Amino acid sequence: MTVRIAIVGCGNISRRHAEAYANTGRTELVGVADIVEAKAQELAGKYGGTPYASVTELLAAEDPDLVSVTTPPGSHAEIAIEILAAGKSVLLEKPPVLSLAEMDAVAEAERVSAGSVWVIFQHRHGSGALRAADLLGRGALGRPLVAVCETLWFRPLSYFDPDWRGTWVGEGGGPTLGHGIHQIDLLLHLLGPWRTINATAVRLGRPVEFEDVSMASVIFESDAVGTVINSLLSPRELSRIRIDTSGGTLEVNHVYGYSDGDWTFHPAPDAAKAAALGIDPGVRKTAIESSVADDPWTASAGDDVPSNHEAQISRLIDDLQAGRSHETTLAGTRPTMEFVTALYASAITGRPVHRTDLTPDHPFYQALHGNTPKTELSESFRT
Ligand SMILES: NC(=O)c1ccc[n+]([C@@H]2O[C@H](COP(=O)([O-])OP(=O)(O)OC[C@H]3O[C@@H](n4cnc5c(N)ncnc54)[C@H](O)[C@@H]3O)[C@@H](O)[C@H]2O)c1
Repeated sequence: MTVRIAIVGCGNISRRHAEAYANTGRTELVGVADIVEAKAQELAGKYGGTPYASVTELLAAEDPDLVSVTTPPGSHAEIAIEILAAGKSVLLEKPPVLSLAEMDAVAEAERVSAGSVWVIFQHRHGSGALRAADLLGRGALGRPLVAVCETLWFRPLSYFDPDWRGTWVGEGGGPTLGHGIHQIDLLLHLLGPWRTINATAVRLGRPVEFEDVSMASVIFESDAVGTVINSLLSPRELSRIRIDTSGGTLEVNHVYGYSDGDWTFHPAPDAAKAAALGIDPGVRKTAIESSVADDPWTASAGDDVPSNHEAQISRLIDDLQAGRSHETTLAGTRPTMEFVTALYASAITGRPVHRTDLTPDHPFYQALHGNTPKTELSESFRT
């Protein structure tokens, strides 16, 4: 069956969605909507479909199977709920929503709808992450012990020109929510549930209502520990996840998307193998590593699928056509929103936050700023 697609929000990222759908060769773009009609007309002119001035008009006239929501984050929840109420499925851009309260409202709308909600986190869907999730999930790389998760990006002042950027209402948060969330989501996807976060967030150089740098230390349910840093002030940009396990070090270094070549695995010196070779495992690591080229990471290599919109959207269309659910469900991304919420709560209150603290009566459940008075917020971000 051909999957009928619509796109709401015809700005920058909508083109990636339109191209990724078109490249599957198994979809038809039936309609696109933007409150700026010229943008809807431009997208429709390039990729097809009828242009509309709102999601409401689009849903009244078309019968899509799936609607990509590529509007600014502050509008995601309301638009997703309207699409679900029409019985259609939704592919939400990241960040899916601005709070746990919004996430639960969308989840409730999904529960009573014929449609489903999936979220774009494209870095879960490249072949490197698929291999890493599989091997870590079945313990083939050993027990995770220490993690480092870095999103060191650069956004000039002009990035904040659109009026929705830099505001709690439109953008919802700084690099923690808007940028580092990609790496955070992948880290949690690979390492499983976290238990406690201690965080700091500061505003050092951009005209925003929230942080432009944040840092956290995290303890996982497995007892593994990690650090996370998110910055928009780092001219040599880098996205990195490094996981030290009892079996070795798995690492991915990239900026906005990785290929298999961006992943490395350094096996831990193997004491038994070292003894057989008469090598001291503490000193002659390289000799031992070269003797274990059959390590599970190297052995798992297959087709190289880079982590981009095309990787996730082609898997989503495969899943829809096969009648399966797609892996990145709304519920499956709740741990990521919980992590982001806890990071803000810890940074703003100066106290550790446990995942179990985040019940609906928690002050940060409704909003990532916890409805903290402005003067106190400024103090937390040290400005
Ligand atoms: N996955 C990624 O790698 C990635 C990269 C960049 C942006 N994004 C996400 O994509 C989303 C959009 O970002 P962008 O850079 O394309 O923004 P953008 O400002 O370029 O485009 C947003 C568009 O939505 C339209 N819009 C706003 N409110 C609307 C509404 N209620 N109904 C219909 N249209 C509406 C605007 O007119 C605009 O054309 C954000 O959530 C952002 O975080 C994801």
